[in-house]
Amino acid sequence: MIGAAKAGIEVSITGLGVKVPERVVTNDELSQYVDTSDEWIVERTGIRQRRIASDEEALSDLALPAARDALAQAGLAGSDVDLIIVATVTPDMAFPSTSAIVADAIGATDAAAYDLSAGCTGFMYAIAQAYGMLAGGLAHRALVIGGDVLSKILDWTDRSTVVLFGDGAGAVVLEAVPQQGFLGFELGADGAGGANLWLPGSGSRKFEDPDRFVKMNGREVFKFATRILVQSAEDLLAECEVSIDDVDVYIPHQANMRIIDHATRKLGVPSDRVVINVDRYGNTSSGSIPLAMADAVADGRIAPGKLVLMTGMGAGLTWGSALMRWTLEPAA
Ligand code: ACO
Repeated sequence: MIGAAKAGIEVSITGLGVKVPERVVTNDELSQYVDTSDEWIVERTGIRQRRIASDEEALSDLALPAARDALAQAGLAGSDVDLIIVATVTPDMAFPSTSAIVADAIGATDAAAYDLSAGCTGFMYAIAQAYGMLAGGLAHRALVIGGDVLSKILDWTDRSTVVLFGDGAGAVVLEAVPQQGFLGFELGADGAGGANLWLPGSGSRKFEDPDRFVKMNGREVFKFATRILVQSAEDLLAECEVSIDDVDVYIPHQANMRIIDHATRKLGVPSDRVVINVDRYGNTSSGSIPLAMADAVADGRIAPGKLVLMTGMGAGLTWGSALMRWTLEPAA
């Protein structure tokens, strides 16, 4: 699915908030649990540390503070929001949705609220959906949260997965704005590759002795990721008739430094325009892009008028890109 914005109204991000757990887990600490080393992890992934939720922390414990900060920046109360989408594969529970839990906590009594499952691409799917709802007049103020607590579904004895992921969440408010906001989206899914990254036993399909931990064919996911980050971005730029040279800030999904380096080289994005947080947070799934967005706002690279390209990819296998002109003034 691809489209350049054609709606009569412009939609943009008017508030942003993020939250990660307090606990920092370094590569050296991980090497106490599995047979790995800081050297191996840094060389193969670029990851140096990640944040890991406590036993008591669930997704909504990260999503809520992020949502409250995003609403505060937008100058809105929870009751002003009429759409809440939480993109995640680690909701507090299957139902009620984490969106409904968030809606209740912020007092969004008139909001439609649902969770969305598109793996690490969830945040991109969710902002595209919210954009469509706003552009179509079905909603006026949307709260979109991307977040995961993947540490809860990892096998902590499996070195091939446990070193890659971390926990975190980010939230944005989407509203109509007077100037240009989102320029377009490109989303896709390839279910044929689904078994390369999956969670058997997590739903209604019966498996013999499922352990309900993430399973991954790292090499296949690596091949998919390096191909799709480039293809999705190039397709969207072509659809929007924008050159890569005009992109001020590039936010790729933060899965692995080698994947990001490959995409950056192929796309021809200068490295100072690429936002990186995988070294500090690991792969936070749906939290990865909003967390990186917040970093780039904090360091001044994302500012009003800047053209921002973002691409997510993950389980499904899914992918999604968005191109937007940033409109939000930095928080005072
Ligand atoms: N520490 C030390 N050794 C390890 C570790 C580890 N944590 N994990 C694997 N190894 C070993 C393997 O056992 C293997 O040993 P062997 O040669 O004796 O058999 C060796 O290292 C090489 O293993 P490979 O799997 O070939 O290593 P590779 O270079 O492919 O790197 C990695 C593995 C980092 C997982 C890579 O394939 C990758 O990044 N894939 C993409 C994964 C990803 O990003 N997934 C999520 C994206 S989608 C989403 O975000 C949900």
